[in-house]
Amino acid sequence: MKPSNTFSRIGFVLATAGSAVGLGNVIRFPFVMGENGGGAFFLIYMISILIMGASVMLSEMLIGYKGQAGPASSFETLATKGNKFWKNIGWGISSFSNVIFSYYVILLAWIVAYVWLSATGGLPHDADHAESIFAVVRGDMTSTFLFGGIIFTLSFYVVAKGITNGIEKLNLVLMPAILLIFMGMLLYSFTLDGFDEALIFMFHVDFSKITVHIVIAAIGMSFFTLSLGTGIVLSYSASLPKGVNLVRSIGYIIVLDTSIAIVSGLMIFSFVFTYGGDPSAGFGLVFITLSTVFASMGVWGEVLGVAFFVALLFAGITSSVSMIEPMLKTVHRRFHISRGKAALYLAMPTALLSSAVVLSLGGYLGEGSLLDQLDYILSNVMLPFGAMMTTIFVGWFMHKSTVEGAVNNNLGHFFGLWYVIVKYIAPIALILVMFGLIGMI
Ligand code: PHE
Repeated sequence: MKPSNTFSRIGFVLATAGSAVGLGNVIRFPFVMGENGGGAFFLIYMISILIMGASVMLSEMLIGYKGQAGPASSFETLATKGNKFWKNIGWGISSFSNVIFSYYVILLAWIVAYVWLSATGGLPHDADHAESIFAVVRGDMTSTFLFGGIIFTLSFYVVAKGITNGIEKLNLVLMPAILLIFMGMLLYSFTLDGFDEALIFMFHVDFSKITVHIVIAAIGMSFFTLSLGTGIVLSYSASLPKGVNLVRSIGYIIVLDTSIAIVSGLMIFSFVFTYGGDPSAGFGLVFITLSTVFASMGVWGEVLGVAFFVALLFAGITSSVSMIEPMLKTVHRRFHISRGKAALYLAMPTALLSSAVVLSLGGYLGEGSLLDQLDYILSNVMLPFGAMMTTIFVGWFMHKSTVEGAVNNNLGHFFGLWYVIVKYIAPIALILVMFGLIGMI
């Protein structure tokens, strides 16, 4: 019997992979790869996931596993010095998750709109029409409030229900569904003429294309896709039963996350190379290019469209739920209030921020979109910062014996190497990536 409100092993892997697999894998990964020349980007992305991503993930897991609490309390109790400072860093990192949630939920509202459009035959037939539909969906405040509100409430409800009855249960249903739909779509893309070209685009590495810019983009993407630097992995790990092999869990999570990214890439590029379109079309790659492709395929396209957008929605929901947990766990434990109450208190400021994002999309909050600005700051500054602080903490502010005790048996001879990465290499690399992402390198 597992203690109540603790993950089962499989539940933990699926929930953490559920957080990792999200809009980043399906929308962002293909277009960032498209913009950065395909195979060369993919190679560096993989190396970065295996070396840096896995190392930072292990650091986060270890803090949660040993601290047995959300980021603020885990940092505070485990720090060998500067406990107050680290507690505040913990609060800060947890709040990053709520900021992502506030705009992620709006992207999910658009996806609900696209599920609706696919099901009712409303997808656009040509590129111009597609652009105008996308603009309408983005600017339609009523449907964004409605669909976004539903997802918002649902996500908070699931997290309020707790780990076992909420987060784990949701992931045990949605993750297999996502995997099934994606496998089906991959099989379909095998039959398309553009499949071979997609394979070459993704896996042929042209070393001359590797530039500093591509390296930075690939490392940045590898952190975003694994949901690192925001206390999510840390908070989930605080609800692990004793005796879990952290390293093996990371292996499974990375395999799941990477498989979905590869399948999304192959699928989207097969469609693009078969039916035409620009692989470096940004967010429009999915909402404009792909939706036009579905529309041109008749009834079959409607089925594929619904399946694709539903899988995307599920992937997004398993991520959005994870973004609520760090702050909720912290408030619930530190102030001794129920998860339900903590959810209510946290939902209010988050809803305000989300509403501001919707108003800005509707043109009511001055120039520029708040959504793009938040996304920019988050993925380019906050996530690398959070990841960097996590590694500095494990390398410099935790007893080496505590660290060793938690992972040594799993890492064996690799412990020394991992420790060097966490202590020296990752913090330096992350600060460089942060400067690189904001254009200072
Ligand atoms: N990993 C999620 C995705 O790929 C995004 C995310 C980033 C979620 C950071 C939580 C924290 O969509």
